[in-house]
Amino acid sequence: MKQALNLFLLALICFTACTPGSKDPSAVSPDGSIRICVGAEEGKIYYTVNKDDKVVLNKSFLGFVLKDSEFNKDLEITNVEGSSFSETWTQPWGEEATVDNKYNQLKVDVEEAAGLKRKFSVVFRVFDDGVGFRYEFPEQENLKDFIIMDELTEFALADNHKTWSIPYDSKYYESLYTTAPVNELDTVCTPLTMETKDGLYLTIHEANLTDYAAMNLTPENKTSVLRTYLSPWSTGEKVFMKAPGVSPWRTMIIANKPGDLILSRLMLNLNEPCKIEDTSWIRPGRYIGIWWGMHMEKYTWCQGPKHGATTENTMKYIDFAAKHGFSGVLVEGWNDGWQNDWTKEGDKFSFTKAYPDFDLAKITKYAAMKNVRLVGHHETGGATRNYENQLDSAFALYQRYGVNAVKTGYVSPLLDGKEMHSSQYGVRHFRKVIETAAKYHVMIDNHEPVMPTGLQRTWPNLMTQEGVRGQEYDAWSQDGGNPPEHTTIIPFTRGLAGPIDFTPGTFNFSNPVFPNTRVQTTIAKQLALSVVIYSPLQMASDMIENYENRPEFEFITSCPANWSKTVIPDAKIGEYITIARKDRDSENWYVGSITNADSRNMSLPLTFLDKGATYKAKIFKDGKGAEYKTNPYPVEIQELDVTSDTVLNLELATSGGTAVMFLKQ
Ligand code: NOJ
Repeated sequence: MKQALNLFLLALICFTACTPGSKDPSAVSPDGSIRICVGAEEGKIYYTVNKDDKVVLNKSFLGFVLKDSEFNKDLEITNVEGSSFSETWTQPWGEEATVDNKYNQLKVDVEEAAGLKRKFSVVFRVFDDGVGFRYEFPEQENLKDFIIMDELTEFALADNHKTWSIPYDSKYYESLYTTAPVNELDTVCTPLTMETKDGLYLTIHEANLTDYAAMNLTPENKTSVLRTYLSPWSTGEKVFMKAPGVSPWRTMIIANKPGDLILSRLMLNLNEPCKIEDTSWIRPGRYIGIWWGMHMEKYTWCQGPKHGATTENTMKYIDFAAKHGFSGVLVEGWNDGWQNDWTKEGDKFSFTKAYPDFDLAKITKYAAMKNVRLVGHHETGGATRNYENQLDSAFALYQRYGVNAVKTGYVSPLLDGKEMHSSQYGVRHFRKVIETAAKYHVMIDNHEPVMPTGLQRTWPNLMTQEGVRGQEYDAWSQDGGNPPEHTTIIPFTRGLAGPIDFTPGTFNFSNPVFPNTRVQTTIAKQLALSVVIYSPLQMASDMIENYENRPEFEFITSCPANWSKTVIPDAKIGEYITIARKDRDSENWYVGSITNADSRNMSLPLTFLDKGATYKAKIFKDGKGAEYKTNPYPVEIQELDVTSDTVLNLELATSGGTAVMFLKQ
């Protein structure tokens, strides 16, 4: 009976053959544009992907090398099962309120033809915006606890596309993205974004990285066939697995325009639904911090004459936050254990003992009175065992004092002196922190993380993460700071992995410590970044004194951190991007538009606004003579009434920007 049903489903799925005359199992996206086909050839299993009449992936082989044997040979397809799914789910926070999750699925069961007859299945999901697939290991006699030495998943790209990537061994993913053809790549991290000659935009990444190692990609023998390279344990193994068990989803967004990469929700859809029943305590917001002052060496993390985290200083920051509507104040260096080289002595950190000049009880009481919360800080120096030993007591302490968000940090090349952040060891640790924090109603902002994979759908207390070369490089990077094009690339690369704690909003570009390093943008671009770079906890990075008497600060204090809708009127990777977002809590829209080192004029038709309505547009643009190298400060503020028929002319200076709020009248 089951066999008959499966054959029936197979017939349904296979309404389009992969190649003329082929009987390979296949599935198409709900809109019919993307097709995945699966087959077996000389005992090896492969899949192919097409979009309309274009080949996206040629035969790409699947399988594993296990500790004691290969698991990619002598395989045959034993069963194929198709199904369809459609739902719309609501996000507690995000770039839009609701997400459509609609796909056709093909489950392919595979078994060794002889010998141990071990089995796995590959489950493919085909969406209108791309594909995802994962391995499932069912319970079976001859595969119980096993060790993956290599995952052999391939992406045999149809051509040698242009790519944007960072190397696999980038420190905490904090590298500049560079472009190269696929075959010239070294081993690179995902998300890996590509542009094809026939006008497609592709991004390979993964979704729901759970108890597994992060995926990296490496070209096989200098070709455009990419092969998976999992981040290893220090002992060389990649993943300790158990059957039944599953791998993360391997994903590929397939888009016709760069902006559509950003609008894809495929990664979130491939994560499990929310596991937190009551999410009312999870609240996006904007925060400031006793932070840039450390990077500018006005303050120290350690105790001493320049200690930043004093009760008095924190109360000053709380007053400022209350006055300007920030929900949080981050304070780093509040706790015992900051050594001279804390990146090597992370096990000295206490997460429950405050320095004597930081009165946690007094500060949090004062903050509550002012309707502001302290944002906690747990720098671990990569000593995860020390941290895990204190995890419950640390979060319990914060919960007792009403601290509902914590920035965690892992500055050290290896965790516990040994394991990579992106290894199974790191993945296990980061998940433990998220789940423990949820128990204590604490939101997480994870710095030096493993690359995000959409876990915030399941654990929406995972708000934002670093894993990027952020604004702090404009404080101390020896190469002078982030180049102008950087923020026109990361929305299409790292940004596709999830929210980024980039910390835009620096207003004073002079750098007393490294005079040759500084923010390489105009001020208007700093404003626009709070719309362009999405983070549900969005920081205004500068010291509070640098915001005094700056009328343009209004854009930062008004810009929401939670949206009901996002549209991308125009974008070109590495050159410019304009994003429009609708506030989750009002009828107002906000636009951020930024450019690389080239100045440019662009038209922005306001077709995203409600038809027939009038909006007051408040425009913050590069002022007369603005130019990022020599004259970054001029900002012009303009007000005018607009409708959806209006076309704005945006004039962006070199590394400049425009930020606009549209207040519905
Ligand atoms: C690196 C983080 O990215 C930065 O924001 C923080 O100030 C330092 N670590 C200290 O924790």
